[in-house]
Amino acid sequence: MGRKPDAVAKSYHSGGGGAAASSPRAARKASPSPVFLGTALFVLGFVSLFTGHVVTDADWARIRSRWRPKQHRNYEPIDIWESKYSSMYYGCSERSTGFRSAVPENSSTGYLLIATSGGLNQQRIGITDAVVVAWILNATLVVPELDHHSFWKDDSDFSDIFDVEWFISHLSKDVTIVKRIPYEVMLSMDKLPWTMRAPRKSVPEFYIDEVLPILMRRRALQLTKFDYRLTSDLDEDLQKLRCRVNFHALKFTSSIHAMGQKLVQKLRLMNTRYVAIHLRFEPDMLAFSGCYYGGGEKERKELGEIRKRWDTLPVRLLKLGVEC
Ligand SMILES: *[C@@H]1O[C@H](CO)[C@@H](O)[C@H](O)[C@H]1NC(C)=O
Ligand SMILES: *[C@@H]1O[C@H](CO)[C@@H](O)[C@H](O)[C@H]1NC(C)=O
Repeated sequence: MGRKPDAVAKSYHSGGGGAAASSPRAARKASPSPVFLGTALFVLGFVSLFTGHVVTDADWARIRSRWRPKQHRNYEPIDIWESKYSSMYYGCSERSTGFRSAVPENSSTGYLLIATSGGLNQQRIGITDAVVVAWILNATLVVPELDHHSFWKDDSDFSDIFDVEWFISHLSKDVTIVKRIPYEVMLSMDKLPWTMRAPRKSVPEFYIDEVLPILMRRRALQLTKFDYRLTSDLDEDLQKLRCRVNFHALKFTSSIHAMGQKLVQKLRLMNTRYVAIHLRFEPDMLAFSGCYYGGGEKERKELGEIRKRWDTLPVRLLKLGVEC
């Protein structure tokens, strides 16, 4: 759940309060205000007192035309079902020919474990980055364990959600992945795997300089709370690796897939088009909104407790929620 506070705090700081709140404001800003046009006209007129130039209809038309296209764009109907830009997007997860191949388990620098964190989406991002970090370190990756303790208290394992055999085989050219640390390696280690936490958005050099020496010394190392611990600013080949993991290697198990198909089929029977909305009406987000939702003393107490957890929360939100 660690990520959520930051994500939301950011949207608070950017003055947004969500897309719904910010877009009308943006639209208002984009259209020329009468005050601005009036001021422009006044300045032109004022200048013309000295130059002897009188604002003509032609000048006025020119000023207006400068604004008109923008004004026009605001009122253009939006077709949410298609985009003229969609043809410009394409997948780019193909492995480049020169991309370094997976290091075999017996010559890798050690076993990398991660503890994922947050909801499934956040964990997925962590798993994707773990593969990239394993590549950077020439390490063998141990199939990540899912987070059983945060918000959802979901006890599913990786193999309950994702096709683990596919995950391993699909990435075998890039990174060696094993299900667990081999027994004899465990026996040879005199201590439990070392744990450490990388700072948010660490660069590859951090992993080489700070993590690799410990990994090599200890043979196995666990990176804890591994969410958003790798910078998004990676070179192209590593971004492609991210795409291979996220869009190809992480495949839901067949039972989840079948359930998804069933849902889609049912929706399609009702209509050819549908919109899925994730309301995110959940305690942590409610706490973040700073609002009171009419749940009485119980709500105030529970959301108040959650609010206390985040030191990034603006002070005004720490007070009891207000109706909004
Ligand atoms: C490492 O394992 C591979 C098979 O995966 C084997 O061919 C190779 O000889 C091994 N190398 C060493 C140094 O043990
Ligand atoms: C990983 O292996 C490659 C090729 O063997 C080598 O060039 C690179 O320096 C290694 N990196 C690390 C972090 O060990």
